[in-house]
Amino acid sequence: MPQPRILVTRNIPRPALERLDEVFELELHASDTAIPRDRLLDAVQDKDALLCLLTDAIDAELLDAAPRLKCVSNLAVGYNNIDLDHATRKGIVVCNTPGVLTQSTADLAWALILACARRVVESDRYVREGRFEGWGPMLMLGVDVFGKTLGIIGIGRIGSAVARRAEGFGMRVIWFDPLVDPKTVASEYERTDLRHLCANSDFITIHAPLTPATEHLISGEEFALMRPQTILINSARGPLVDEAALIQALRNRQIAAAGLDVYEREPEIPAGLLELDNAVLLPHIGSASVETRTKMALMAAENAIAVISGKTPPARVY
Ligand code: GLV
Repeated sequence: MPQPRILVTRNIPRPALERLDEVFELELHASDTAIPRDRLLDAVQDKDALLCLLTDAIDAELLDAAPRLKCVSNLAVGYNNIDLDHATRKGIVVCNTPGVLTQSTADLAWALILACARRVVESDRYVREGRFEGWGPMLMLGVDVFGKTLGIIGIGRIGSAVARRAEGFGMRVIWFDPLVDPKTVASEYERTDLRHLCANSDFITIHAPLTPATEHLISGEEFALMRPQTILINSARGPLVDEAALIQALRNRQIAAAGLDVYEREPEIPAGLLELDNAVLLPHIGSASVETRTKMALMAAENAIAVISGKTPPARVY
């Protein structure tokens, strides 16, 4: 029997490639940059499975170009890059990597909270520019995190892990999430609506999925409700926040700062953001630890192997 064929669209941790190699005839786009679209369209034509990344658009055109495809295994928990309806219509199983990245992604959200509150990145730049002339009572004053109110938008796996860390900082946690069953959320965290959350949080952190309903969830209207001391963190998906409205809010000091790991049109970062001192900008590294990326890659590999072997994959999206 010929082996089933899989395309892996970029370099991923080696243990996952070795595992895939046991089952598949493996074609790897052996690069650290995204596979060009025409190359992707060409390479999927004879594949039974595809292990792809959130930077690959798995749309109707792509799915139609792959008549043998049985599985799309996304190396990410988010799957807004995949046309799920079209895949479902074609009987293609879509899988993702939930759970294994929860703690790393929550850590990164906290890295942004602390970096913004205590002006860590700005201070580092200040030292490197040779401007440090000794301790100063008014030098680089930030704001405290301890005892403040943390507003969490989206209290699923990652939002809950962020909330647990807030307990160590003695914070009050309030949350908004129309998708979650409130009974599954710890009772000490207070449920609220989006407007109240915007108006009453010192820190707002977003952990919601990107869908047509959540696009620009935070826009001019929400910024108008926030306070001048509010710090906004987005490590979920860029289009959840209206970037132009965010730049205005940061520029006018309508809010104090923003910590961003994601952008509306990645990898494009608007010049308006780059010039702001009150924005901490990361290159979408929420789950980027050696341990977590290895677990994600192995899970994505096991998903593809299970589907191709007619078994239930560890994480099927639908
Ligand atoms: C990363 O952004 C992911 O969705 O896993």
